Amino acid sequence: MTTKPDTTPPVCSYEGSDYQSRFWDGANRRYEDAVETVAIDRLFTQGGHLMLELGAGAGRLTQRYKGWERIVLLDYSRTQLQQARERLGDSDNYLYVAADIYKLPFVSGLFDGATMIRTLHHMADASQTLQSVRRVMTEDSLFLLEFANKRNLKSIFRWLIRRQAWNPFSPEQVEFVQLNYNFHPKTILETLRQSGFENERSLGLSFFRSDWFKNHIAHERLVKWDARLQDQKLVNGYTPSMFTLNRAVGATEKPVDGSFFSCPICSHALPELKMTQICPGCGHEWQYDQGIYEFRINPEK
Ligand SMILES: C[S@@+](CC[C@H](N)C(=O)[O-])C[C@H]1O[C@@H](n2cnc3c(N)ncnc32)[C@H](O)[C@@H]1O
Repeated sequence: MTTKPDTTPPVCSYEGSDYQSRFWDGANRRYEDAVETVAIDRLFTQGGHLMLELGAGAGRLTQRYKGWERIVLLDYSRTQLQQARERLGDSDNYLYVAADIYKLPFVSGLFDGATMIRTLHHMADASQTLQSVRRVMTEDSLFLLEFANKRNLKSIFRWLIRRQAWNPFSPEQVEFVQLNYNFHPKTILETLRQSGFENERSLGLSFFRSDWFKNHIAHERLVKWDARLQDQKLVNGYTPSMFTLNRAVGATEKPVDGSFFSCPICSHALPELKMTQICPGCGHEWQYDQGIYEFRINPEK
């Protein structure tokens, strides 16, 4: 039985947040949304049986992952999951799970695919995060990871003219707002390798993430230019957002038949039942309420 770490970093709370309506629907971000779709369509087309969407939020991207029989939407925020459920509805295709990525409530080797978009951004410990994700993936499965790149052209320029104190070329992550991190691409690729992933491909995107471009150049043209540049090695390591496709390598535990969840406190295996369960290992009650599985150890009220 794999044990999960006792101490984990704090979670950036989105509980009660209007993230989807404020950041996406109500702002000038059609371009960012579109170029992310281009990257997903390029990298993550294999489909499969069971996929894990980590930090799924309000389910903005879920329907863009094609060819999956079932998708588990996992987020720490229950209110984000409620929005996702309103968008996607109740069916056997989507499961909604409130849990902490550092303490994933699934048995090892369960998923044959995973994505994490705009979420590593909030993880103080990238290594612990990626090891946690690797544990629940089966050998040879694919993991699509997006991260915010500290070595982008804007930050390089600001650093050169001394408007920014931190060095965009140094390997350590930068916390520019509490629990908001930008990472160096080489550090993330090395952390992926150490966590049991082999990088297959990386794309750089959001070249034209500025209001000037968005207000002066037609949306379709900007998206077309971005799509052309995403795979250009010379420039794609210098964009604010990077999409990486990674294969899970090395031996992985196989789930025992009938097991699905795993208690985040004691790691005891639990079946997938649409009902509240008492863990036979530690006696903790894990609730199932209004279509959402509750696996947060100390949920905020
Ligand atoms: C910026 S949003 C991105 C949502 C979605 N992936 C998208 O691109 O629209 C980040 C999401 O990560 C979730 N999150 C942050 N830290 C988390 C953690 N430790 N465990 C689970 N979810 C977390 C937040 O609740 C939030 O919904």
